[in-house]
Amino acid sequence: MSWTKVLSADALSPDSRQVVKVGNRDILLLNHQGQLYAVENACPHLKLPLKKGKITEDGAIVCPWHRSAFDLRTGEVKKWVTWPPLVGKAMSIVSQQKALPVFPVRVEDGSIWIEVEQ
Ligand code: FES
Repeated sequence: MSWTKVLSADALSPDSRQVVKVGNRDILLLNHQGQLYAVENACPHLKLPLKKGKITEDGAIVCPWHRSAFDLRTGEVKKWVTWPPLVGKAMSIVSQQKALPVFPVRVEDGSIWIEVEQ
């Protein structure tokens, strides 16, 4: 694990978000209600981008594709996609619940840093 400087702190205004590249990972940085979060920008369900996901009042990001939801702080699954009964059984085989990878984030010397395994 190592800390990587990814952005100037000024570049992430309140209630904004931005995707940054660290190694081969796309990481979604969010400034939500004054708190910074860093999560993988790939939903664990089908690896589709989370960037446009809504944030719930209890701090979860909702995938814009099939509505799975993940705690922004821990990555814990709050809700997993549900499929119509006819496809549900088949899709459950390729759709095991997985937490969203989250990364420590801090501001130092006017920059945002993320700790990522490289
Ligand atoms: S890609 Fe996110 S719930 Fe399906």
